[in-house]
Amino acid sequence: MTALLEVNNIAKRFGGLLAVNDVSFSIDEGEILAMIGPNGAGKTTAFNCVTGLYAISSGDIRFRGRSLVRLKPHRIAALGITRTFQNIRLFSYMTAVDNVMVGEHCRMQAHVWDAVLRTPKARREERDVATRAVRILARMGLEQYADTYAHNLPYGLQRRLEIARALASGPALLLLDEPAAGLNPNEKAELMGVISRLRDDGLTIFLIEHDMRLVMGVSDRIVVLDQGSKIAEGTPAEVRNDARVIAAYLGTAVTEERSA
Ligand SMILES: Nc1ncnc2c1ncn2[C@@H]1O[C@H](COP(=O)(O)OP(=O)(O)OP(=O)(O)O)[C@@H](O)[C@H]1O
Ligand SMILES: [Mg+2]
Repeated sequence: MTALLEVNNIAKRFGGLLAVNDVSFSIDEGEILAMIGPNGAGKTTAFNCVTGLYAISSGDIRFRGRSLVRLKPHRIAALGITRTFQNIRLFSYMTAVDNVMVGEHCRMQAHVWDAVLRTPKARREERDVATRAVRILARMGLEQYADTYAHNLPYGLQRRLEIARALASGPALLLLDEPAAGLNPNEKAELMGVISRLRDDGLTIFLIEHDMRLVMGVSDRIVVLDQGSKIAEGTPAEVRNDARVIAAYLGTAVTEERSA
């Protein structure tokens, strides 16, 4: 089986700092791969390299066998890779359904003039986009909040709305950067269910998360970064007993109680 995403020996340098240092891993179709590591390990930088926000300093990233190197973020999104951000980036003064519709823009066909002149093509497309957006909200259990402004949603639901928006462009690979950050235990448990359901629906998921209960609970495999380098890779059971991983977490065992 060929991997959906292959990351081969990538490096990302910021001046004198090697934020990502010769890191390789792959993600198979239908898999949930988690990337963990202490603060500053290079996890978000790795996400930014995959999604084209940062140009890699060396190495190669392939999606369905095709190199993503030098592609702009919107091209990478159109190929089927979308993400959420470590800090929520919603349009606060737009409704939930509008936030999701924004996420669909890279799928839309109508020319700007169709929109300005409100041609039948533009109106039909807008209606289809709205219908799909409501369906995605329903998939995330947010249908009753379709007309609620994003800033009026409780924090946990804002995080879920971010995922809904990322789903709007119809990705094959979804990257989630610390989706459980700031969530209470109930919301975390719900999020675990959401992530598992998305995978059951056919998505491949690449997850950065500090909450070990969530990581150990949903991941098929885990990659561990420390100071830019990959120090371990394996199943949750393998990684939690790895001596280098335990040492990287300042000598504390990687238990399910740990969270950042
Ligand atoms: N745009 C940038 N310019 C300079 N240095 C950066 C930039 N982005 C990240 N870094 C540095 O790269 C290193 C890795 O940062 P990164 O944000 O990838 O870590 P992380 O593993 O996501 O950490 P956290 O768990 O705290 O989110 C850090 O030392 C950070 O300061
Ligand atoms: Mg980060």
